[in-house]
Formats: sequence, C-alpha cells, structure tokens
Amino acid sequence: MDYENLLTERRSGADGALAVGIVTLHRPKQLNALNDGLMDELGHALAAFDADEGIGCIVLTGSDKAFAAGADIGAMASYGYMDVYLGQYITRNWEALREVRKPVIAAVAGFALGGGCELAMACDFIIAAESAKFGQPEIKLGIIPGAGGTQRLPRAVGKSKAMDMVLTARMMDAAEAERAGLVSRVVPNERLLDEALAAAAMICGYSLPSVMMAKQCVNRAFETGLADGVSHERSVFHALFATEDQKEGMAAFAGKRKPAFKHR
Ligand code: HXC
Repeated sequence: MDYENLLTERRSGADGALAVGIVTLHRPKQLNALNDGLMDELGHALAAFDADEGIGCIVLTGSDKAFAAGADIGAMASYGYMDVYLGQYITRNWEALREVRKPVIAAVAGFALGGGCELAMACDFIIAAESAKFGQPEIKLGIIPGAGGTQRLPRAVGKSKAMDMVLTARMMDAAEAERAGLVSRVVPNERLLDEALAAAAMICGYSLPSVMMAKQCVNRAFETGLADGVSHERSVFHALFATEDQKEGMAAFAGKRKPAFKHR
C-alpha cells in the first residue's frame, strides 16, 4: 500500500521466523510533523501489520533529523474549541496505536518533540540514537501535551523530571533519556535501524502468543494496582500452558535444540 506521509516495508525473518513490519514517518520538509493525514495513515499501516499473520513485531521510525517534531502547528493554529472537540482531535486517529497487540518499537533519531515524544512513548519501548532529543515544548505555544505526555512521561521518568520538561520545555538528550528510563538503550546514530531491527528479529523468533500476552501484561501494570496486575499476570501465565508453543519451547530446552514455534 502506498501512503503519502509514510514508507512501509516488510523485512522477512531468517529461518522461517516471522517478519518485521517497518513504518517510517515521511514528511521530511516538516520534520515529520504529525497532521491528521499522517496519523490516519499511521493508524492504517499499524493495523495492517498487526492483522498480518506473517508479522511478529513492528518498528516505527523517522529520519536522521527527526522522529517527529510534534503535532503540525500550521494545521492546529486556526483550530477552535468546537473543531477539536467535535472533530475528536487526537482521539480519533491517535488512539489507534493503543489497539495494536503486537510489539511496536520506536527507533528515534533527532527530534522527538511534543506529539513526537508522545508517539514514541506510546510505543512499547524506545531505542534512541545518540542524536535523539526528547521534549514536550507545548507550553511555548500556549497549550499542553495532548497525546498522553502529562501521563506517560511522569510514569517513565518520575514527577520531577516530567514537570521540568513540561513546564520549562527543555529538551532531554539521549544520554539523559537513558539515565531517566525513558529509552531502553542508546546506540550510535548509524546503528539505529539495525539495532531496532535486531531487537525486532529477536522478538519475532519467539512464540507470538507469548509475546503478545507479555506485552498485554506489562501494559496492565500501567492500568491497575499491584494485586490486580499480579492476578492478571497469573491468569495469562496459566493460559499459556494451553499453547502448543509452551510444549515445544520446554521440549526444545530439554532436548538442547532450537524451538520450532508454530505461534499457536
Ligand atoms: C509544523 C514544523 C514543526 C511542527 C518543524 N516544522 N516542526 N511544522 N509543525 N511541529 C517545520 C518548520 O516550520 C520548518 O518549515 C521545517 O519544519 C524545518 O524546521 P526548522 O525550524 O527550520 O528546523 P530547525 O531550526 O532545525 O529547528 C527544529 C525544531 C523546530 C527545534 C524541531 O522546528 C521546532 O521547535 N519545531 C516545533 C516543535 C514543537 O513545538 N513541537 C510541539 C508541537 S505541539 P519551513 O517551511 O519553515 O522550512 C504538539 C502538541 C501535541 O506537538 C498534542 C498532541 C499531539
């Protein structure tokens, strides 16, 4: 499928492993500023990879200069309250990422600002290039983060640093982002996509149901209290003993061989 603001690619796995779906934000002249057209396409591309039985993991990336420099300020400038409220601005197409059940890795180089930072945080984990810069500069525009920034950032980096970033609009570089727990790893700029694809390929080598359920359970930690979360995890853990892949994974370990998962 051809998109106006995205590039998509299916990278086949080795040895029959599931493939990786790559989505690249592509509005280079606007530093991948996120307008409705791009977000509609992103929702469509993610849903298509999620529904594709041959895909095990998705990598979302941008350019060397920008993952995304935020929501499109030019588009937002003339909006009034009724436009954003009745038009369900942000809700309508941004919530699509939350529906994706397979892992989504954000591979971030350059600016990830405002909605760009929020988009990266809405992915399952972030691999950052040394050039990455994260920020929530909406306060400079007379608004606040609107796609989860005031909620996901404090959960990732704690209240003090989140307040600092949201209230002063300062950017956080990749090293600070790693120290603060916002990103899972920092890699040399030229290695970003390779490292993200290697992580994705590793995930694609595991049993898809267990990967999806692991994602579901970690996300549950952000939605519920500890007792409910542990109880949910236990139920899902028990359920995995009904899969063929649990038998295969454990038999392969005992037989000192590589498991041949069927994703069932
Ligand atoms: C629209 C944008 C843009 C944006 C950059 N551009 N960010 N257009 N929306 N968010 C455009 C510029 O207007 C410019 O177009 C071109 O991209 C290159 O940007 P420059 O500013 O010339 O580049 P540079 O000097 O390198 O500065 C990069 C930058 C700066 C620091 C990222 O562009 C910047 O501060 N951008 C705005 C960042 C921001 O405020 N993001 C939050 C948006 S609000 P021309 O045509 O002039 O060449 C938001 C709300 C979230 O995200 C709500 C939920 C989604």
